[in-house]
Amino acid sequence: MKTKRSIEPASGRLALLLPGMGAVATTLIAGVEAIRRGLAKPIGSVTQLGRVRLGKRTEGRSPLVRELVPIAALEDVRFGGWDLFPESAFESALHAKVLEPSLLEKLKEPLSSVKPMPAVFSSAHVKRLSGTHVKQARSKLELGEMLREDIRRFMKAEGCSRGVMLWCASTEVYLEPSAVHGDLASFEKGLAESDPAIAPSMLYAWAALKEGIPFANGAPNLTADIPALEQLARSTGVPLAGKDFKTGQTLMKTTIAPMLKARMLGLEGWFSTNILGNRDGEVLDDPGSFKTKEVSKLSVLEHILQPPLYPDLYGHFDHKVTIHYYPPRADNKEGWDAIDIMGWLGYPMQIKVNFQCRDSILAAPVALDIMLFMDLAARAGMRGIQEWLSFFFKSPMHAEGLYPEHDLFIQQSKLKNTLRHLAGEELITHLGLEYYGES
Ligand SMILES: NC(=O)c1ccc[n+]([C@@H]2O[C@H](COP(=O)([O-])OP(=O)(O)OC[C@H]3O[C@@H](n4cnc5c(N)ncnc54)[C@H](O)[C@@H]3O)[C@@H](O)[C@H]2O)c1
Repeated sequence: MKTKRSIEPASGRLALLLPGMGAVATTLIAGVEAIRRGLAKPIGSVTQLGRVRLGKRTEGRSPLVRELVPIAALEDVRFGGWDLFPESAFESALHAKVLEPSLLEKLKEPLSSVKPMPAVFSSAHVKRLSGTHVKQARSKLELGEMLREDIRRFMKAEGCSRGVMLWCASTEVYLEPSAVHGDLASFEKGLAESDPAIAPSMLYAWAALKEGIPFANGAPNLTADIPALEQLARSTGVPLAGKDFKTGQTLMKTTIAPMLKARMLGLEGWFSTNILGNRDGEVLDDPGSFKTKEVSKLSVLEHILQPPLYPDLYGHFDHKVTIHYYPPRADNKEGWDAIDIMGWLGYPMQIKVNFQCRDSILAAPVALDIMLFMDLAARAGMRGIQEWLSFFFKSPMHAEGLYPEHDLFIQQSKLKNTLRHLAGEELITHLGLEYYGES
């Protein structure tokens, strides 16, 4: 029998801290408030509705995830955040036009009380926005210290004993890791010298980790995917995860590509395009921010299909991804995929996908699950990169020397086996010979 890992109970209040109180964050906050009041169900959330099979298929044991491991209750979470616009979560949710105004009216009181703290923001890193609700200081170090102070003040005012931070702010321009990101000493020197290669998102991540708060990144920015902050997470014993929520088109892609590979069907090309009209779409219309997203979206096929191992099937495929800012659609993104595949003897075939989705409706439960699992990881004493949460990300963070695992089904097995492991249950291999009299 395996031994159960000791996990501290999920007692007391949990602060859910959100840099960026736009469409995703307010759909998350409003959703949790609606679910608490019995106005809606947590559809799409693994922590709320998911089950994990335990033992043999004949045992009939499939507890809810939250019965298997201690997940914080939705009644115990308190939301805080930062934004460069001063609107409350109520006003921002109305502006985002994701949820019906009639539902938001019912939640006006709790949503109006969530007011963003002034942001750490730089228009050099997000070119399409400018706002007034922004912190001013002499150096990036001072700005980081101000964020730490915000975290402490919020936790005290709300009576929270634990917290998790999730970046839900706009996608920053593309950055390559450089020397200042190489280790913690260089990074903190760079903070004092206000090095331009340190983006605002990195300051939030640094502040959270310094305060012992797990940090995850819902956008594709480099942020905490640098040795300096990985080192800080490990040394402070805090979980770290990212990056970029896996929601619409990439969720479909990482579902279909493993099927092609499982059946040894070839790929000649994959053309993906999207129209999107929310503020995220407007920010992604800037080439610098789009480049960050493009890199995140493009890498998945190479890693799933492994062209060097299967040159006849995947040696020469074309992969194109575009996003068009098209205001009439607001948050209701529409994505098209034209997939050129080949079968037996190289005969060509085509798959067309037309996903008419709602960006923030897909992202909100993912954001909730990431935060609740990060809190679980912290209470279980797990530190540094949480690769078992790859399931939720387009560009999963991973240990040096490994390639990222993008296949949704491998990611799901990893997630479920980690939960079984935490609960002291046997891992499931799906071998199943014992049902046929073999040992
Ligand atoms: N919705 C999805 O399906 C999805 C999927 C993957 C990634 N994402 C990413 O999640 C993020 C949020 O998406 P959204 O639709 O809510 O975008 P949004 O534009 O509605 O909200 C982002 C908010 O962040 C604020 N912001 C920007 N820089 C900030 C800073 N430095 N500090 C504090 N606030 C800041 C903006 O003012 C805005 O209110 C984006 O980066 C997006 O690319 C979303």
